[in-house]
Amino acid sequence: MKINDKEYLTIWHEDDQVRIIDQTKLPHQFIVKNLKTVKDAINAIKTMEVRGAPLIGGTAAYGIYLAVKENNNSGFIQKSSEDLIQSRPTAINLKWAVDRMMKKLLGINSDELFKIALKEAKAICDEDINFCKNIGLNGLKIIEEIYNKKKDTVNILTHCNAGWLATIDWGTATSPIYHAHKKGIPVHVWVDETRPRNQGANLTSYELNEEGIPNTIIADNTGGILMQRGQVDVCIVGTDRTLSTGDVCNKIGTYLKALAAKDNNVPFYVALPSSTIDWEIKDFKEIPIEERDPAELSYIEGLDKDSKLQKVLIYPQKSKAMNLAFDITPAELVTGLITEKGVCEASEDGLRGLFK
Ligand code: MRU
Repeated sequence: MKINDKEYLTIWHEDDQVRIIDQTKLPHQFIVKNLKTVKDAINAIKTMEVRGAPLIGGTAAYGIYLAVKENNNSGFIQKSSEDLIQSRPTAINLKWAVDRMMKKLLGINSDELFKIALKEAKAICDEDINFCKNIGLNGLKIIEEIYNKKKDTVNILTHCNAGWLATIDWGTATSPIYHAHKKGIPVHVWVDETRPRNQGANLTSYELNEEGIPNTIIADNTGGILMQRGQVDVCIVGTDRTLSTGDVCNKIGTYLKALAAKDNNVPFYVALPSSTIDWEIKDFKEIPIEERDPAELSYIEGLDKDSKLQKVLIYPQKSKAMNLAFDITPAELVTGLITEKGVCEASEDGLRGLFK
């Protein structure tokens, strides 16, 4: 998708370099960074220079390529794969991508390793672009149906950033929105700010602006009253891990939006590529929920009056804070899962009907 009218992906290989857009600097600064080593890839994932489940997976795939390039000793590659998997715990795409890379490299002679690793990392990213495009085409039908009944702008609420910046291109939750916009269906997006890291305000609103899609940032607790007032036609969110049972793990606050949606009969959809499905865990309590530094809550960064980036403390100095990054939305609150293969019920039967 576009930034300043130029097409970008979120990660790419060019001039023998792996390049990313540093998302910690958006929306105020646009900085492209080179990842030179597997440590750079791990650091980019931990510090959230790259984030969003599919992009974390793509970066981990390139991380394995960088490890092979650095040192093709099998012990080093194995240790790098373990360090990559540890870098963020919740998004299943990370382990999925590392496992796929390691399987591909198994038993290959050392001269070819580096080329095969690069080819597979690119294949993982290309596949994600294709998945997200198809998620968009499948989700478009939902937006189109609402528009055909309403004959007026479709208001969509989304949480966090499940946009193209969270994937390689198109996004998951935003892909149906981009497809609807391209088809001439009038859409407007309510963007949850998404405290504490403000991915909604900093990334979703930013990328929608760049594509010319009308959107309004709201404080995280505003969705409920908008739904009571009939100002939300549909909610579409992303996910970091969806169990085969249909339970959805996503950015903290998603669950409360789903509860409000249920109470107000607003359809609540989750958009995901198959790489985000966890076929192993059955009990959502077993999903590792990332707990991040409380300083992400107590400090906030923005431009000062001289347009300089500044970080300021906004909490009482003596207060304790807790920063859980994800929550679980039980399957019964989810209207449907929008995948690359079609839309299904949030249940084992629904998912198996599409995927196995
Ligand atoms: O902490 P983040 O910014 O990595 O969290 C991202 C989300 O919660 C997204 O909704 C999810 O990864 C889906 S990405 C298409």
